Amino acid sequence: MKIEGKEYRTIWFDEKNQAVKIIDQTKLPHQFIIKDLETVKDAINAIKVMEVRGAPLIGGTAAYGIVLAIMEKNDPNFIKKSSEDLIQSRPTAINLKWAVDRMMKKLSGVNNNELLKVALEEAKAICEEDVKFCENIGLNGLKIIEEIYKKKKDKVNILTHCNAGWLATINWGTATSPIYHAHKKGIPVHVWVDETRPRNQGANLTSYELNEEEVPNTIIADNTGGILMQRGEVDMCIVGTDRTLSTGDVANKIGTYLKALAAKDNNVPFYVALPSSTIDWKIEDFKDIPIEERNSEELSHVEGLDENNKVKKVRIYPKKSRTMNLAFDVTPAKYVTGLITEKGVCEASKEGLKKLFK
Ligand code: MRU
Repeated sequence: MKIEGKEYRTIWFDEKNQAVKIIDQTKLPHQFIIKDLETVKDAINAIKVMEVRGAPLIGGTAAYGIVLAIMEKNDPNFIKKSSEDLIQSRPTAINLKWAVDRMMKKLSGVNNNELLKVALEEAKAICEEDVKFCENIGLNGLKIIEEIYKKKKDKVNILTHCNAGWLATINWGTATSPIYHAHKKGIPVHVWVDETRPRNQGANLTSYELNEEEVPNTIIADNTGGILMQRGEVDMCIVGTDRTLSTGDVANKIGTYLKALAAKDNNVPFYVALPSSTIDWKIEDFKDIPIEERNSEELSHVEGLDENNKVKKVRIYPKKSRTMNLAFDVTPAKYVTGLITEKGVCEASKEGLKKLFK
């Protein structure tokens, strides 16, 4: 998708400089900086500090992390240790382990002098596949927006939480892909963007990328969605997910669950968009999903532009206050109207998922 009129992806391999390029998302929206990842440590750090974030992009970065490990030291022990460190870099998004496991499986038994070539091809394939999957999610979700528009014959208001946009994937996004497809087709859409405290991925990333694509949007404080739904100002919710269980339960950014409850109470359809790489086929009980707890500074401090247009970080909480920063919650399947996947839309249940993914 576009930034200042130029097409980008969130990650790519720079053949000339033999480096992985990313858009440093910790600097958005105030600065647009492209950064080189040169070592596997760089890739691990980028995932940890969230220079890259969003389940599919974390997976793509981990895949390139394996490529960087091989470029550094073509040694089986080093590559294995790197794969383990990559998997540990963030706990909730299943795409991370999915991508590393896929890379390691592809590399097993490959001749040493072929290793780099095969790894690079596979990392590129993982990213290309994600682009295709996200595009298909968009086409499948578009049908739902079209149905609402046909009945309403007026602007379709869609609420989203966090950033499940193209910046969270390689391109298109998951939750935003149906929105971009509808916008490109001329359907009037307007997006309510949850700010998404504490890291403000909604305000800093979703609103930013929608602005760049000229999709009308309004940032709201996280607690505003409920009253908007009561007032009939939300036609549907679409969110992303970091891990969807085979039962249809969905882990996503903290606060998603509360939006789903409000949606249920107000008969607002609540959809979750995901590529199949986000499905965890093993865990059955949502209490077994590892929920990331992040640094308390993400809560107690905020970053913004000062009066001289310089980025500045300031403390907003009392120094003595304790904080707790859980990054994800789980929305039980019973609150999810449907899962929008690359293969179609299904019920959030074992039966629903089985119909699409044999
Ligand atoms: O902590 P983040 O910014 O990585 O969390 C991202 C989300 O919760 C997204 O909704 C999810 O990864 C889906 S991305 C298509």
